[in-house]
Amino acid sequence: MHIVDLILKKRAGNALTKEEIQYLVKNYTNGTIKDYQMSSFLMTLFFQGMNDEEATNLALSMRDSGDVFDLSKINGIKVDKHSTGGVGDKVTLILAPLLAAHGAKVAKMSGRGLGHTGGTIDKLESIPGFKTELSFEDFERQVNEIGLSVIGQSGDVAPADKKLYALRDVTGTVDIIPLIASSIMSKKLASGSDAICLDVKVGSGAFMKTLDEAKKLAKLMVNIGKLAGKKVTAILTSMDEPLGHKIGNGLEVFESIETMNGKGPRDVVEVTTTIGAQLLLDAKIETDFEVAKRKLAKSLHDGKALNKFREMVIAQGGDVSYVDNPSKLITDKTVEVKSTKEGYITKIDALGIGVAASRLGAGRETKEDVIDLKVGLDLHKKIGDKVKVGDVLVTLYVSEKGVEEATELIKKSITIGSKKQDFKLILGTVK
Ligand code: URA
Repeated sequence: MHIVDLILKKRAGNALTKEEIQYLVKNYTNGTIKDYQMSSFLMTLFFQGMNDEEATNLALSMRDSGDVFDLSKINGIKVDKHSTGGVGDKVTLILAPLLAAHGAKVAKMSGRGLGHTGGTIDKLESIPGFKTELSFEDFERQVNEIGLSVIGQSGDVAPADKKLYALRDVTGTVDIIPLIASSIMSKKLASGSDAICLDVKVGSGAFMKTLDEAKKLAKLMVNIGKLAGKKVTAILTSMDEPLGHKIGNGLEVFESIETMNGKGPRDVVEVTTTIGAQLLLDAKIETDFEVAKRKLAKSLHDGKALNKFREMVIAQGGDVSYVDNPSKLITDKTVEVKSTKEGYITKIDALGIGVAASRLGAGRETKEDVIDLKVGLDLHKKIGDKVKVGDVLVTLYVSEKGVEEATELIKKSITIGSKKQDFKLILGTVK
């Protein structure tokens, strides 16, 4: 087999076989295929695409380039979720204990953030002492004992994807749907869960800007999952404004704890219980979606989810006084950004708000940056809300840096108009 033949075959619009895709992944990972050859191949995909079988073979070849976790020693159905990335997305922090409280097993490996805000692991580390690195044996034991554990990505998961992603990033080949789908699914399939729910974000703050694109991505990922023998579903949710109100690491843990105390923002509760209900059906713990959703919503009020979260914090060495008194998670130095206009909030650029939090120190610009876990912002108004001149739009939680820049970004990111705007959060389900 020769790489040039495969480039020409794809350029002419023909489908590649499983062996051809395995050859590409293996020989690119070991350096036999050069970056300039792989770049040319990747660009053919922008024009010719891939069918579901090819994308599945790509996902599986990338999965098999590294560690694949065997969770068979954990009793019960293992469930997992993945978000394609959004601002203020703290759903894993609430959903993992909520599902564990309902009998599902959550053995979750999560990432750190690069870009506007931290990832789930950064957020959990805002609880002092919380260990995000456990041995695989301790991870398995904890999930068997209390139903959940959330740790950082350990081992070498899908190294072929890491190498390819770095190349895509500098060759204009990131936004190609079969590449995004196989990249995400290679890592999800390596994590070993039985049922996976994907939260595909749509809108200004997301990878996928339109519902059409998001549907295509969701369908392909669900099909890759099916062809790989896993139960995968996807929900499409809006990222036309941040999720919830609080953005920043400690702030998002704070809002998650409020949510598990029955005081969560409507949108956070809706996305969490929608994904949760889908996973309880997929795990065969519940049979009716609406009933499952109601039961989950109840557990956010009666302390069930919060108790599970406390158990996880204790099991992973975290200081549980931060769960009982979450204001310790946040700096007390604040700056208010006020409205200079009257009307209704018509648009919030989620990305702009995320970047503002990052400028305050809540996100990383390079992998080496150290993030400030106690800073971020609280967005008091959401799309459709009425505002008067002088109303506080956002409270910034600050240390030393970025206040002016963040204030400017926020002013640019929030649009106030004269007509009340509707906002739809859940945009569809793909099974
Ligand atoms: N997230 C991933 O993991 N891969 C992509 O290609 C895009 C988003």
